Amino acid sequence: MIDIHNHMLPAVDDGAKNDDMALSMLKEAVKQGVEHLVLTPHLYEADIIKGTGEWKAKIEKGKHTVMELVKAHELPVEVTVAAEVRYQDMLPIILEELEVLIGGKYILLEFSFHSVPNNLERIIYEITRKGIIPIIAHPERIKPWQQDPKRLEELINMGCPTQLDIGSFLGSLGPNTEKLAHFLFDRDAVHLVGSDSHNLEARPLYSKPGYDWLSERYGAEYADLLLKENPGKILRGDPVEVYPVNLEPAAMSMKDKLLNMFKS
Ligand SMILES: [Fe+2]
Repeated sequence: MIDIHNHMLPAVDDGAKNDDMALSMLKEAVKQGVEHLVLTPHLYEADIIKGTGEWKAKIEKGKHTVMELVKAHELPVEVTVAAEVRYQDMLPIILEELEVLIGGKYILLEFSFHSVPNNLERIIYEITRKGIIPIIAHPERIKPWQQDPKRLEELINMGCPTQLDIGSFLGSLGPNTEKLAHFLFDRDAVHLVGSDSHNLEARPLYSKPGYDWLSERYGAEYADLLLKENPGKILRGDPVEVYPVNLEPAAMSMKDKLLNMFKS
């Protein structure tokens, strides 16, 4: 398996706190059958305000540590370093000055959990015009999309693959998140799944349980697509098939929609 989204780079963000923790997480990934890790530390606006030089140095140090750990412990895993980029006005600077792309073509883009920009489609259009394809990180966790999944439809239909967090569909990230995750599977609107692992306790890896869940529910071929084939294409910079979807929430009852609105 390939894990396309996790926070194992030590002392960079709210993931692995130090080298020991990173090593435990790396070992756990290997144990669960992950052969390639794409390390995606958070990149927020505040990181850029401090200057891209500081970010670069922090990432380089973390990367060096992880490579040394992999070598010293003879871990059978390949490692690539990218980033999970929070949507922000600094995006052009990020794309110009930092190595955040996966496979030279894809950017793992996350949005605030509470609001998405009104002009989102325009922003995505501008990014794709540069030949860069945004992967929408864990859309199932974004409240506005939990309330109205239709708003996500256009992004997918513009060719953006979605990456769901495994914990979301296993039910460890709350009922609204789980519900939208299952809805997106039912509508064939999922292209990748990732661990988004931050630690070994509250936000563990779940790659193997995730693979098994997908396999049991939809078949091994589908589990392979989401955890092996599509992430492999992303790493190589090859196109991922993103078919048009219909996310009209007709399948959600009015009662569920109202409940969702009041819960958030
Ligand atoms: Fe993440």
